[in-house]
Amino acid sequence: MRHDSLGDSGLVVSEYALGAMTFGAETPQPEAHRLLDVFAEAGGTLLDLADVYTGGESERIVGRWLADRSQRGAMVLATKARFPLTPDRGPNDQGLSPAYLHRALDASLTRLGVDHVELYQVHGWDPLVDPEIWLPALDGMVRAGKVGAIGLSNVRGYQLERIVQVSRQLGGTVPVSIQPQYNLLARDIELEVVPAALDHRIALLPWGPLGGGWLTGKYRAEQPPTGATRLGEDPDRGVEAYAKRATPRTWAILDVLRDVAARHEASMSQVALTWLTLQPGVVSTIIGARTVSQLQDNLGARDIRLTQVDLRALDVASAPPVPDYPYRLLDDMDAERVAATHGRRSRR
Ligand SMILES: NC(=O)c1ccc[n+]([C@@H]2O[C@H](COP(=O)([O-])OP(=O)(O)OC[C@H]3O[C@@H](n4cnc5c(N)ncnc54)[C@H](OP(=O)(O)O)[C@@H]3O)[C@@H](O)[C@H]2O)c1
Repeated sequence: MRHDSLGDSGLVVSEYALGAMTFGAETPQPEAHRLLDVFAEAGGTLLDLADVYTGGESERIVGRWLADRSQRGAMVLATKARFPLTPDRGPNDQGLSPAYLHRALDASLTRLGVDHVELYQVHGWDPLVDPEIWLPALDGMVRAGKVGAIGLSNVRGYQLERIVQVSRQLGGTVPVSIQPQYNLLARDIELEVVPAALDHRIALLPWGPLGGGWLTGKYRAEQPPTGATRLGEDPDRGVEAYAKRATPRTWAILDVLRDVAARHEASMSQVALTWLTLQPGVVSTIIGARTVSQLQDNLGARDIRLTQVDLRALDVASAPPVPDYPYRLLDDMDAERVAATHGRRSRR
C-alpha cells in the first residue's frame, strides 16, 4: 500500500484508512478483527475511529485487537469527539467545551487501552463553543503527549479558514487534516472546503467514499432496498437514504461508473475509490466495510490504473451543480483577468 504525509504532522499514513463505524453494529467483533487483520496484512496503517461509534463499543473492539495482535506500534489511531454517545446525554456531555473534550479523550484512551492517539479530530463544528476556546484544549493534549496531531471533520470552508487562522494567532497546534463526506455522488466540498484545505496543506481524509454503498451498484431504480445492506436494514438512514439518493443524477453517474469498471474488469467500488484517491488534497480514503469480502474487493482498488479518458468521463458525469454566483461568474472574471495578463486561460 502507498503511504503519504499527513499534512505537516510528521506522520505518514496509508492511502486507505479503515473506518470502524460498523464495528459492534453490522460487523460483530470476530469479523471486525478479521477486517483489521486483512487491512494490516495489506499494509494499511490508519484506523479511523470515533467515541460515538456504537456508543464506544467500536473503540473497545479495536482496543482488544491492538492488545491481542500487538499491533499498537504499527497503527496510526485517529479518533474523534463532539457528538453525544447516547441520545440522553446532557448539554455538557457533548460538544467542544474543554471540560468535555478532556473527558472524551480520556474515555477514548481507556476504551482503546492506549496512552495516546496519533490524531484527535473534532467530529464537527460546535455553534456554542468558539475555536478560541477549544483549540487551546487540543493544544494542551498535544503538549501532554496524549495526542500527536489534531484534525477536523464536517466543517464548512469559512469555518476551516477561521479555525486555521485562530490556531496560528494563538501560536498553538494547527490542524493537519479534515474529514469530509466526499465521493462521486457528493462533490460539493470542491466549492469551498477543498480550496481552503489545499491553501493550508490540510490533508483530506474522505468519509463515505462509496456513498454508503451506492457506488457499488447494489441499489437499483424503483427497487426499494432489501436484505443485509445498509439501506435494506434502514432505507431512511442518514445522507445515503434511498429516497434522497434515488435520483436521475445518481443513476446517470452509476451508468458511467459501471462502464468504466467494465472496461477495466474491475468492480464499481474499485473504480469509485481509485477516482477519489486521485482528487487534489486526498491523502487517505477511509474505507467502510461490513465484511472481509467487501474489504478485499475495495482494497483491489490499489491495482486499478484509470486513464485520462476514464477520469474525464467520471468527472463530467459527477460534476456537482455549481451556482452562478459567487462561483461561475467570479471564475469567469478570474479567468479573464489572467487571460488578459498572461494570454492564457486560468484554471480555478
Ligand atoms: N467524520 C464523519 O462524520 C464520518 C461519517 C461517516 C463515516 N465516517 C468514517 O468513514 C468510514 C467509511 O464511511 P462509510 O462506511 O459511510 O463508507 P462507504 O464506503 O461509503 O460505505 C461503506 C458501506 O458500503 C457497503 N460496502 C462497502 N464496500 C462494499 C463492497 N465492496 N461491496 C458491497 N458493499 C460494500 C457496506 O455496507 P452494507 O454492506 O451494509 O450495505 C459498507 O458498510 C466510517 O467507518 C467512519 O470511520 C466518518
